[in-house]
Amino acid sequence: MLLKRICWVFSLFLLASIALQAAPTKEAGKELFSANCGSCHAKNMKDNLTCPALGGVEERWAAYPKTDLYKWIRASQAMIAAGHPRATELWNQYKPTIMNNFPGLTDEQIESLLLYIKEPTSGPPKPPEDPTDGPKESGNMWLFAGLALILGLLAFALMRIIDNLGNITRVQAGESPVSRTLSQVLSTKGAVAFLVFALVLFLGYKAVDNATRMGREQNYQPDQPVAFSHKIHAGVNKIDCQYCHDGARRSKQSIIPATNTCMNCHSAVKKGTISGTSEITKIFASIGYDPLMSQYIPDYENWSEKQIEDLYKKWIGQEYMSANSLTAMNDAGRTVVESQWEGIVKALKNDSNGKIQGPIEWTRIHNLPDHAYFNHAQHVSIGQVACQKCHGPVEKMDVVYQYSTLGMGWCINCHRETEVKFADNDYYKQYERYHEELKDGKRTKVTVSDIGGLECQKCHY
Ligand code: HEC
Ligand code: HEC
Ligand code: HEC
Ligand code: HEC
Ligand code: HEC
Ligand code: HEC
Repeated sequence: MLLKRICWVFSLFLLASIALQAAPTKEAGKELFSANCGSCHAKNMKDNLTCPALGGVEERWAAYPKTDLYKWIRASQAMIAAGHPRATELWNQYKPTIMNNFPGLTDEQIESLLLYIKEPTSGPPKPPEDPTDGPKESGNMWLFAGLALILGLLAFALMRIIDNLGNITRVQAGESPVSRTLSQVLSTKGAVAFLVFALVLFLGYKAVDNATRMGREQNYQPDQPVAFSHKIHAGVNKIDCQYCHDGARRSKQSIIPATNTCMNCHSAVKKGTISGTSEITKIFASIGYDPLMSQYIPDYENWSEKQIEDLYKKWIGQEYMSANSLTAMNDAGRTVVESQWEGIVKALKNDSNGKIQGPIEWTRIHNLPDHAYFNHAQHVSIGQVACQKCHGPVEKMDVVYQYSTLGMGWCINCHRETEVKFADNDYYKQYERYHEELKDGKRTKVTVSDIGGLECQKCHY
């Protein structure tokens, strides 16, 4: 009898779990997306040069039966050939890039994908956790919580002891003993004071912690004055990192390129495929380049804001008209000109010199505290560490973010693990003993920690 019941319950469970597996889920969608779609459609669902963003895709297909979207994902070229309106529209915009066919995807799998796409993505994809750094912060939190709990229990126990001692004297004096419940204890003056004290201590700790960290945080991704994309430059156009960050190989700092470096190309590339005139005109306005005459403006320093406004509005307007084959300006065009000019003012004028003229002030992302010393040349030229090892896949980022923790544990970990390229590097000639040991076979490798990479004074002033 009992056995039968157990069997029933068990098979119900089994059925339920099968049903759950077949139902579309975000998690399944995520896996499918990164395996099949992520190579073309950006993970952050933003438009890139060759593919549409997928966010909001269901709304764009809402005018057609749901099965049309399924058909598109399974065989897009067939739908284009059949003249489906949305398919034709997409093709005209993104040709000649052809989307792969996915004839094997089931309805459930496509629903999973759509669920994943629908979910708003927050921030950049998270890099793998750093085992030494992750627990440091939350570890502190738990330490505080644990300590508070122990102190609380101790206080409670002490109070009970005091109560008991008090009761002994009371009984000896012939009075009846009192017994306080937990809630009575918690409402005593001492307990309230203790709780307030603990709260103040905790909030104070968090405030100091936040203040000293400033922007220094993994995944930190501030807005920049110009929508500069590493994906377009270092990724699609394969410009070498050190073409722009030419300090990395020879100095402590990598150095953010000056506007002059941008002009090496942008005196010719005057418009972007995605942003048109809106971003590249900021480069011109900061340095004083006249895109209409293709020449630098002499005496730009002394130009009034009105002169600057007239020139760049004229440029933006002219480009708008030619892009839309207009012979005279219309209202839509005037709105574009105004809003792009506003963008220039916001990016360039609202900075430290309060003028349009002057360098583009980028917001710094990576920032070690003053007491720590880090040198790029040491790592890039001597250690031959790739930029991506520390900064992540920058060539895939439209907007750069801080990929690594930059915590001390992160530095130390790599110094323990990384072998220095000892054999053919003049820099390491001085380490005779290691060379001998390597030759004798007593040593198979030399890590950064062997050459002093864990010594405090190497990294701290
Ligand atoms: C080889 C690159 C590539 C891959 C891989 C790819 N796509 Fe596409 N996708 C495109 C392109 C390009 C377009 C635009 C139309 C065209 O040019 O064919 C597009 C368009 C779409 C659209 C229409 C968007 C809209 O706004 O109407 C959807 C939906 C879509 N893709 C879903 C997917 C899904 C889901 C996957 C993975 C299972 C996927 N794509 C994989 C390149 C790709
Ligand atoms: C065409 C010039 C150019 C190229 C090429 C380029 N960068 Fe940059 N990089 C910039 C500019 C401009 C900024 C400042 C704006 C920003 O943060 O996006 C920057 C910012 C950065 C930052 C953040 C700096 C900070 O504020 O902490 C890192 C890290 C970085 N680049 C790494 C790279 C790597 C790695 C490559 C090669 C894969 C590369 N860059 C290629 C121009 C370039
Ligand atoms: C070595 C050449 C080169 C350098 C240096 C360079 N760019 Fe570019 N940039 C390009 C190319 C190529 C494009 C792609 C144009 C397009 O969209 O077709 C581009 C596009 C852009 C776009 C528009 C993207 C779009 O599609 O809307 C912006 C904004 C931009 N660059 C800013 C900068 C800034 C800021 C600098 C200096 C820090 C810089 N570039 C340095 C070559 C360069
Ligand atoms: C061993 C790790 C490591 C490597 C390799 C590395 N960086 Fe950095 N990078 C850092 C750290 C740490 C900072 C923060 C430095 C600071 O605040 O003093 C930083 C800061 C930067 C900055 C901000 C401005 C500056 O000059 O400090 C840029 C830009 C940058 N790196 C680009 C690059 C490029 C390009 C490469 C490859 C040529 C590279 N980095 C290689 C760790 C690294
Ligand atoms: C991805 C690995 C990696 C990371 C992360 C890294 N380093 Fe290094 N570091 C190296 C290598 C490789 C060398 C060896 C170059 C050399 O011989 O000087 C080195 C050397 C050094 C040296 C010179 C050591 C000596 O004995 O001459 C200092 C100082 C240093 N790193 C500081 C730092 C700091 C500070 C950080 C963290 C902000 C850091 N490193 C993060 C790989 C790394
Ligand atoms: C390879 C480089 C490196 C070495 C070696 C190193 N540190 Fe650090 N240390 C750092 C960096 C980078 C930070 C900043 C971490 C941050 O901002 O979170 C730091 C932070 C600190 C802090 C501040 C607390 C914190 O976590 O921010 C103390 C204290 C400290 N180090 C002590 C030491 C002592 C003591 C030694 C020697 C046993 C040492 N460090 C060796 C790189 C190093």
